[in-house]
Amino acid sequence: ARAVAIVPAAGRGERLGFGVPKALVPVRGTALLTHAVRGLLNAGCVRHVVVAAPPSEVESTTALLRAEGLAADVVPGGADRTESVRLALRHATKVIPDARVVLVHDAARSFTPAEVIRAVVAAVAAGAPAVVPVLPMADTVKQVDFGGTVLATPDRAALRVVQTPQGFDLDTLTRAYAEAGDSATDDAGLVEKIGIPVATVPGHAYAMKITTPFDLAIAEFILSREEA
Ligand code: CTP
Ligand code: MG
Repeated sequence: ARAVAIVPAAGRGERLGFGVPKALVPVRGTALLTHAVRGLLNAGCVRHVVVAAPPSEVESTTALLRAEGLAADVVPGGADRTESVRLALRHATKVIPDARVVLVHDAARSFTPAEVIRAVVAAVAAGAPAVVPVLPMADTVKQVDFGGTVLATPDRAALRVVQTPQGFDLDTLTRAYAEAGDSATDDAGLVEKIGIPVATVPGHAYAMKITTPFDLAIAEFILSREEA
């Protein structure tokens, strides 16, 4: 099965503080979005990519990807990530009506290894309606109240850090976006809300989300390792 990939890339990148949308911030001369889209297309299990870009950057983003020889549709994103995914999903179902497997992958997880992408697609193809890549927690996690006082220490062994790409049977994701309302910090969260089980596959340290200048330094390191 070959998946359609939706890439939310319409954020402003405020925590990175580059003064340009994060997707356009370069690592070794190449935009994070370009790294992300190339990674998807090179994984061998993605047939079409739809990028949600900042509305003012649709043309520049289209030109950027075309200049790198990467085939992708670029649509205007929305005010938050959920809205960006919703808009890109609408476009994807219009242009690829026979799509069955859909991935949602943050542009900011630009260096996600192909093996993670392939594992997610394979799990959906094997029948899971929703799949997320996860890692065990390295730190102990505390639940706190609004004043910062600790309420509880959840058992770390039962916790996972969640990455992207998250993979879905297309009908499941469409239903989740139609029925679940707007409050979830990831796409699988919407699927959970409509009572559909979400499976996990192993994630990878390199699939980290690039959020801060520190993360960008890590990204430089990852790329130097890949190129070595
Ligand atoms: N995203 C999006 N549309 C939005 C907001 C975010 O498509 N309106 C995307 C981002 O481009 C990113 C992913 O969702 O690829 C995860 O969001 P995040 O890491 O928070 O990126 P930004 O919103 O750009 O960063 P910040 O919150 O620091 O401004
Ligand atoms: Mg954000």
